[in-house]
Amino acid sequence: MKKILVTGGAGFIGGNFIHYMLRDYPGVSLVCLDALTYAGDLETLAAAFKNPDFKFVKGSITDRKLVFDLFEAEKFDAVVNFAAESHVDRSIENPAVFLQTNILGTQVLLDACNRFAVPRYHQVSTDEVYGDLPLDRPELMFTEATPLHTSSPYSASKASADLLTQAYHRTFGTPVTISRCSNNYGPYQFPEKLIPLMIAKASAGQPLPVYGEGLNVRDWLYVEDHCRAIAMILFGGTVGEVYNIGGHNERANIEVVKTILRQLGKGEELITFVKDRPGHDRRYAIDPKKIGDELGWQPQTLFDEGIERTISWYVNNESWWQNILSGRYQTFTPEAFR
Ligand code: NAD
Ligand code: DAU
Repeated sequence: MKKILVTGGAGFIGGNFIHYMLRDYPGVSLVCLDALTYAGDLETLAAAFKNPDFKFVKGSITDRKLVFDLFEAEKFDAVVNFAAESHVDRSIENPAVFLQTNILGTQVLLDACNRFAVPRYHQVSTDEVYGDLPLDRPELMFTEATPLHTSSPYSASKASADLLTQAYHRTFGTPVTISRCSNNYGPYQFPEKLIPLMIAKASAGQPLPVYGEGLNVRDWLYVEDHCRAIAMILFGGTVGEVYNIGGHNERANIEVVKTILRQLGKGEELITFVKDRPGHDRRYAIDPKKIGDELGWQPQTLFDEGIERTISWYVNNESWWQNILSGRYQTFTPEAFR
């Protein structure tokens, strides 16, 4: 695999994946296609712009002509589709764009893979397609055989994209793989998601909005462990297969928030319990046995170490998230970083 299309690379996980691949896979060149929605930030890719093996194209995965022209010109060996509307709360406010990007955009990419005989398409999916687990049954975990059972417009759109990806494999023989990962955290996460939002609020001494009683549980994975898993699936995974990715790092939201406050030296009086998210999934927990047994993937970063590193990153890179809060990030151009 010499040339890989990475969609959504100006976002959190796609950006980390680009840095990871450029560092650990010399000889591979990457083209990033990103629409630069509110969630895309070119500053996340600042270091990549200096690398001759990296190219950026602004455009939407829903733009069939642009996508087909790009595939024809570049002759990709693989596609990794990170591009998505990713925030559950926004999907409750405005579901339409989630269906357009997450479902129809995936269809455009799959069609382009068929038309130009791309040897591999990887769909970056989520554990949210499995719905949620009860809080009082800690032995239950999501396996690849767990039925899809979604809660939010976001998760319904991601499950639809998974079904479409599997249908293209069965009907057209498209060489696909799918990964379903649990909650990621780490550098460059947009400050609307729990961890960076709480760091930004706590740093400013503002109230920390915790939904409900803060008892919902998420299974946290350090973003670089996710990136390594995707690379292993790309290079060693079996076509047509789904791989769950997670690291057995379950935490209640309130625990995560208290950890952030402790490390930042702030008091718990900043915690403010607010109205719960409608349809709020109670607990996610991934069983990652298949990817461990078949590909030898294991998480390398435990939550206690990863969260400390992440909080330090946000403290040391405050200008990155302040540029988002001020809106300045939307004025950046690729030339500014070359
Ligand atoms: P993000 O919101 O940080 O980034 C999404 C990126 O996609 C942005 O750069 C945005 O500009 C781009 N984008 C949006 N619409 C586009 C379009 N139509 N065409 C091209 N680019 C477009 O998201 P993230 O948290 O990095 O998530 C990346 C992927 O991983 C998503 O598919 C998400 O469903 C999945 N995922 C996320 C997590 C998590 O914890 N964040 C966990 C599991 C899976
Ligand atoms: O599990 C994977 C999913 O994780 C990904 O598919 C999604 O793209 C990603 O956004 C994430 O979804 P969540 O809804 O779990 O993430 P979020 O950061 O929005 O919320 C994490 C938990 O924190 C959730 O239980 C809701 C709660 N929360 C969130 C916010 C933003 C709060 O209590 N207060 C908040 O202000």
